[in-house]
Amino acid sequence: METKISKIGVFTSGGDAPGMNAAIRAVVRASIYYKKEVFGIMQGYDGMIAGEIVKLGARSVGNIIQRGGTILKSARSQEFRTKEGRKKAFDNIKRSGIDALVAIGGDGTFAGLNVFFEEFGIPSVCIPGTIDNDLAGTDYTIGFDTATNTAVEAIDKIRDTAISHNRLFFIEVMGRNSGYIAINSGIAGGAVATIIPEDTMTLEELFSKLDEGEQSKRKSNLIVVAEGSKIGGAFDLAKKFSERNNYFDIKVTILGHLQRGGTPTYFDRVLASKMGVAAVEGLIQGKNKAMIGIRNNQIVFNDFETIMGSKHLIDDESLRIAKILSI
Ligand code: F6P
Repeated sequence: METKISKIGVFTSGGDAPGMNAAIRAVVRASIYYKKEVFGIMQGYDGMIAGEIVKLGARSVGNIIQRGGTILKSARSQEFRTKEGRKKAFDNIKRSGIDALVAIGGDGTFAGLNVFFEEFGIPSVCIPGTIDNDLAGTDYTIGFDTATNTAVEAIDKIRDTAISHNRLFFIEVMGRNSGYIAINSGIAGGAVATIIPEDTMTLEELFSKLDEGEQSKRKSNLIVVAEGSKIGGAFDLAKKFSERNNYFDIKVTILGHLQRGGTPTYFDRVLASKMGVAAVEGLIQGKNKAMIGIRNNQIVFNDFETIMGSKHLIDDESLRIAKILSI
């Protein structure tokens, strides 16, 4: 079924992720390809509330496919959580004539869009853009591949200095509720242990692993810790371990927002391009309240209701491999 959509609004929301610009470009160019007008809403839901809406053309999105960040800027809007805020946003959307929305962001973004649809009925599709890769309904989110590659590159560099000084490093990577970056950069970076929010490793298990390493003459150690670790962040773990350790010189590195920036990998650019085109085609075909995903290399549309409140779980195989290889 073809719909009568004529003006599409696109915005980015929540934490920025490398590849968001490639997704914006794809939404804009696909809209124009299908003879639709397209508008950029600046600064996520905050810009929707403030009426910061600009018309975009094919050339507005030239030269951005390789750039990190988001040309539309982003925000974690508090005002959009209120009914009054959403009403202001709706008034601006109506005034600009926008009759369909594409949001690029994480779970907070599409939860907001879901409420907005329930209240005002604007057809909406969401593209998963977050470095965390924690969204149900997709094997990959835009930005995860780049962020993980950034983490691995940093881990490799830290390894050089760890080896040279026989040191133990606790390296903290992003992931408040998700261990995706940690487990994958841990495997790829050859970590001795990876601490993720989803795992049940205790402090004692971690420390006895380090003791065993010392006994088997391991000279340097890299421990990757996800930000959301349940047994403490990198600084906490380093402090606790230093209270009982007398054989390792211990250092801590927090990678932080370094992982959010930078040139997107080819993988994120292609993923973002596919999802951006799918978003526009989906809206034209009548898709609504849906988050796009990629499953087994095929684009899918997930109804918001089927994925809200669910999480993309870490696969047991990754956990198993990490354990086997870290002896
Ligand atoms: O959701 C992406 C993410 O980078 C998380 O990994 C991290 O916990 C959070 O955003 C940090 O958010 P902010 O940049 O708002 O501090």
